[in-house]
Amino acid sequence: MAPARLVRPAMEFRDSYRALVAEIASRGEPFVPFPLGFPNENFDALLAQLAACAQGIGIPEGFVAHSTFWLVAGGEVVGVSNLRHRLTDSLRIEGGHIGYGVRPSARGRGHGTRILALTLVEAAKLAIPRALLTCAKANLASRAVIRANGGVFQDEAFLEPRGEVVQRWWVPTGAS
Ligand SMILES: CC(C)(COP(=O)(O)OP(=O)(O)OC[C@H]1O[C@@H](n2cnc3c(N)ncnc32)[C@H](O)[C@@H]1OP(=O)(O)O)[C@@H](O)C(=O)NCCC(=O)NCCS
Repeated sequence: MAPARLVRPAMEFRDSYRALVAEIASRGEPFVPFPLGFPNENFDALLAQLAACAQGIGIPEGFVAHSTFWLVAGGEVVGVSNLRHRLTDSLRIEGGHIGYGVRPSARGRGHGTRILALTLVEAAKLAIPRALLTCAKANLASRAVIRANGGVFQDEAFLEPRGEVVQRWWVPTGAS
């Protein structure tokens, strides 16, 4: 099978994207990254919303422009990532530059490692030399993904609103 590729959200993947979202919802998992929670019944509207977010249009107060990407393998969407174009004080504490999630039934096949690798390339295109990644200390799979992409541990802190320890990692993007 061809290696998984990163694409911009597109109509041709409507059904498999919806199936991914439904699978996450049916397992009661939170939507990570957060655009997975955007309504998708009207798919044209979803695509327009995601394109606007990437331009920084129509985003909530305090948010920055953010791009969403889909990882496609075998013609199906198997993962979703979200790249924040710059950091805010809030993102420095939690959220960082990049969030990602893999369809539950497609985990453990390297897609998490690959979607972060390919999203780092997108960060490099925005001249971000190193990406901040934040991750719950208990999230061993995500920590492994960050490590596999060259992540350098910065620090960790207990975040009261989340009730857990969150780690911060810096990952080189290849941009100088
Ligand atoms: C984190 C996530 C993206 C990983 O996706 P994935 O496709 O399973 O990732 P990979 O297949 O590339 O696996 C990466 C590593 O995690 C390890 N791993 C997977 N599940 C694990 C688990 N439950 N405990 C420990 N390690 C685990 C794998 O063995 C692999 O390590 P290796 O390369 O040393 O063998 C996926 O679990 C997910 O979508 N989680 C929910 C959303 C989320 O937590 N996102 C990250 C927010 S910071």
